[in-house]
Amino acid sequence: MTSTPPGPRAPSQPPLRLVRPASGREDQRAPQHVLLVVTGSVAAYKAAPLARALAKAGAEVRVVLTRSAVEFVGPATFSGLSGRPVESDMFGSHAGGELHVALAAWADAILVAPATADFLARLATGRADDLAAATLLCATCPVLVAPAMHPTMWSHPATQRSVATLQSDGRCRFVGPVDGEVASGDSGVGRMAEPEQILAELLPLVTPQDLAGLHVVVSAGPTVEDLDPVRFVSNRSSGKMGFALAERAARRGARVTLIAGPVDLPTPPSVLRVDVRSALSMQSALHEALGPELRSADVLIMAAAVGDYRADAEHPTKLKSHAPVLKLALHKNPDILADIGRARTGRRPLLIGFAVETDSDARVIELARAKLVAKRCDAIVANHARDSLGQDDNRVTVITNETTEPLPRADKGWVADRILSFVAARLGDKGK
Ligand code: C5P
Repeated sequence: MTSTPPGPRAPSQPPLRLVRPASGREDQRAPQHVLLVVTGSVAAYKAAPLARALAKAGAEVRVVLTRSAVEFVGPATFSGLSGRPVESDMFGSHAGGELHVALAAWADAILVAPATADFLARLATGRADDLAAATLLCATCPVLVAPAMHPTMWSHPATQRSVATLQSDGRCRFVGPVDGEVASGDSGVGRMAEPEQILAELLPLVTPQDLAGLHVVVSAGPTVEDLDPVRFVSNRSSGKMGFALAERAARRGARVTLIAGPVDLPTPPSVLRVDVRSALSMQSALHEALGPELRSADVLIMAAAVGDYRADAEHPTKLKSHAPVLKLALHKNPDILADIGRARTGRRPLLIGFAVETDSDARVIELARAKLVAKRCDAIVANHARDSLGQDDNRVTVITNETTEPLPRADKGWVADRILSFVAARLGDKGK
């Protein structure tokens, strides 16, 4: 997950303490505090989508602009995106006066994006001559720096000295710069990393790594059963729930294998994705991921809507459409989860199934409870088709042998985190 800035004299990065000691907030998965420091580069405009994405990922964001950053981007943009006043001045809005101390104490992580050559030099020499530099000098939390400058500035020995000093001090980590076109139209290493790459580096820094060391296998999306070269039988699953589970599990430190039916979703950062089509191909990919005697995985989350039936044989040519009635013989697919439930001998892998139904709320729970028993799972996540299929949010109930926990309707990322908290607690209780 770490990236070393390319260029001369970039030694390997020292290990960084990723998560602050538990404060209690992590357990409740309260929003993490991210301080975004924007310095004066043309790339400052890219800090706006970063602020938005951070807020969307559930972080509470505050923004500090250096004086020169204000020349490139307006504070109103960032106060709108973060919902908080933007600070630039040492003696700004904070009543107590020591604003840099308060901001450094508030932050769970600091992101400097973009970071100019001047700012790197000021950081490396320990200057505290404006709010941004003073806050960083005061900070003890993880700091991620995304440099952006002209390639000749980046490769200059003075800048490389700053980078080397900062790396050997071990107080910050770098993402980028990358090779590409910069504002002047020239090309080379100096372009700020893209917001997605920066986020992928930052979010684990503010996320408790409670799934570290675990291999989590997630299935997602529909399966597709081909009838002939142009027709198929499938379902309306979008894959969003399974992808959210994979993304959040990786963010929480798990090694994640995502077995995905045909969906048009980007692969989450640090996730190994295996694309499949039919139920049978999903079954073999899952067994590959779970390994002999299911020993290679700690957790299996079956979020995929696996097709229950397949055509008896796929027609090599298009079925003709003369007959007024077409009778199709469909064969039952294996119940992948139930087979794994039966084959499991110990407690691993922890098995989480999904049940999507279309009945009344009470009946949905009843049917899901029956599946919990029939498929020998540790938990079933029950949801109504109307609340889940294709939506960005979901309303689910997590059912175990002992508990029935309805969760409020929420974004699928949030729901995924709650399901993973159940996983972490289960594995924690019963020994990792
Ligand atoms: O029985 P039903 O299809 O509602 O069960 C849903 C759960 O079982 C989901 O976790 C789904 O991924 C899994 N399943 C399976 N193989 C099937 C059908 C469903 O693993 N053939």
